[in-house]
Amino acid sequence: MSSKDVEKTIEALLQERRTFAPPNSFSEQANIPDASVYEEATRDPDTWWESQAERLDWFEKWDTVREGEFPKHRWFIDGKLNASHNCLDRHLSSSGDRVAYHWIGEPGEKRSITYSELHEEVCRFADALKSLGVRKGDVVSIYLPMIVELPVAMLACARLGAAHSVVFGGFAAEALRDRINDAGCKVLITADGGYRRGQIVPLKESADTAVKGCPTIEKVVVVRRTGENVNWVEGRDVDYRSLVQDGSVDCEAEPMDSEDMLFVLYTSGTTGKPKGIVHITGGYLTGVSSTHRNIFDIKPDTDVYWCAADIGWVTGHSYIVYGPLANGCTSILYEGAPDWPDKDRWWSIIEEYGVTILYTAPTAIRTFMKWGTEHPGKHDLSSLRLLGSVGEPINPEAWVWYQEFIGGGKTPVVDTWWQTETGAIAISALPGVTTLKPGSATKPYPGVFADVFNDAGEPVGRGGGGYLVLTRPLPSMFRTILGDEQRYLDTYFAKYGEKVYFPGDGAKLDEDGYFWLLGRVDDVMNVAGHRISTYEVESALVDHPAVAEAAVVGRKHPQEGETIVAFVTPRAGYDGTEELLSELRDHVAKVIGKIARPRSIVFTDDLPKTRSGKIMRRLLRDVAEGRELGDVTTLQNAPILDEIREKSATLTDPE
Ligand code: WT7
Repeated sequence: MSSKDVEKTIEALLQERRTFAPPNSFSEQANIPDASVYEEATRDPDTWWESQAERLDWFEKWDTVREGEFPKHRWFIDGKLNASHNCLDRHLSSSGDRVAYHWIGEPGEKRSITYSELHEEVCRFADALKSLGVRKGDVVSIYLPMIVELPVAMLACARLGAAHSVVFGGFAAEALRDRINDAGCKVLITADGGYRRGQIVPLKESADTAVKGCPTIEKVVVVRRTGENVNWVEGRDVDYRSLVQDGSVDCEAEPMDSEDMLFVLYTSGTTGKPKGIVHITGGYLTGVSSTHRNIFDIKPDTDVYWCAADIGWVTGHSYIVYGPLANGCTSILYEGAPDWPDKDRWWSIIEEYGVTILYTAPTAIRTFMKWGTEHPGKHDLSSLRLLGSVGEPINPEAWVWYQEFIGGGKTPVVDTWWQTETGAIAISALPGVTTLKPGSATKPYPGVFADVFNDAGEPVGRGGGGYLVLTRPLPSMFRTILGDEQRYLDTYFAKYGEKVYFPGDGAKLDEDGYFWLLGRVDDVMNVAGHRISTYEVESALVDHPAVAEAAVVGRKHPQEGETIVAFVTPRAGYDGTEELLSELRDHVAKVIGKIARPRSIVFTDDLPKTRSGKIMRRLLRDVAEGRELGDVTTLQNAPILDEIREKSATLTDPE
């Protein structure tokens, strides 16, 4: 982003100048009722984090709270615990009969599963996984729809000390294959299919295709979700239900070292190879349970909490599975689309279950705005007392709409900034304490030290803009990239020296020290709250026989967020026709998944390149966003830009 763009964005954000102090009635009952916790945590952050770790159940206590700084920090040294035990066993005596998940299938089935029932199923499945050869330290791949068996599978792995690698069900076979191979998984857990917008998503079919290219896979566990007939490989495929029936309920939770790996989760970087983000047990669980309790003000006895993300992303790992279960709270788990069978599906769920807290993404909120207020208007949403947002900057208009039409004009809205890498929310309001400003994620969570630096690595101070940094480690932070420590150091700890973590986001600090996030500053796009690298989409495009060269950029739009625009040079003998356009879009969907499908494609004879042949994506971004072009003096083929600009003037968006 150029500094001019930064200013424009800030200007747009500041047009909504209203602020919202927490209502007294909220503060009075809040888990964190006043600001003293900030002072406490700033004065002695390690002691604050220690107090948060003490909320968990440890088999053996730690000797030291923390050792080391970025990039090599370790927390709760020699402490022993198990995540599955913390999410299940320790709640049994006090609240075994409490519902852990109200599950709702897209076609309409309902299943409420209590903590005791969840515990039993997890134990049985964990025991069965042992019989398939899963051991402490293994990585198990999971490719499931949003069904109860997904958290069950994750917790069963955690119980044995095996790490899970959950792959989002919307990813295609090749993406699954690469992730399985990167981690060397022996076992894959999948389903015959899932439901999305009335259609069956054929997960088993994709899994079969993927596994053809995965030499390490020995067993594929299959959950029967749809009951459709699927291909079955004798000796390799195993039925989930019969495994659970045979598994023993006596399956002790393995004591894990605080720093032992809990899971790996892949996210896009600036190269074609996804990064396996490694999270560990003690610090991660401390961070997610603390933030979940305090930012969402969780009252486990009375709240019905709904994080409407997919568990396949980090939001679901931290705020559908580990945070809520560690806190013993009741959650909604919904399988399908928000507009199936009608555009009021979410609101009817909120009414029926009396949901009190809703956590979703700006892209969903903007879609609801587009659909109109009549859909939420049909339902009683008065049970809601708190709303959350995550995934990308929320435009003030969407923030205000969310509070007004979903929150009944009364609920606080917490905008939460974090990443797959931080594991837990790092910047957010505390709803009983913070005066909210629509569009700002407000302040670092207690114990988190964030700042905004300029290129030279100096703090910009209040009123300045630059790059977001974290200057002190936090327990929930990832520890490395699986199998690639060098990439870990190069990606995150090179810009400002190794003591400073660089998340890749632009930010501004206002006069009150509030943080305003301004989007990614690298070649990573944020599409509907999901991270996709330009490089991955380009690789998928050039993989098609008709494509000679491709450059991909994210086009920012204040309401829509970011959409993918591809500039494609066809090979000799191919023309940039409408047919080719839709074929290329489908091709990307097939290789990576629908989320990566370019919204628009511009065919061009050449791409703007520097004299050394590097494609100037920055200029293409200017074109896509209809801006004045930046510096073009280093281009070897400047005239092509006029042609591209002309063709892009009427960029149309196929829906
Ligand atoms: C990137 C992380 C964290 C869960 C979902 C995405 C952007 C995330 C916000 C927010 C502005 C945000 C950042 C970040 N982002 N939340 N509240 N305001 N930007 O996880 O895929 O790891 O992506 O999403 O750019 O770096 P992720």
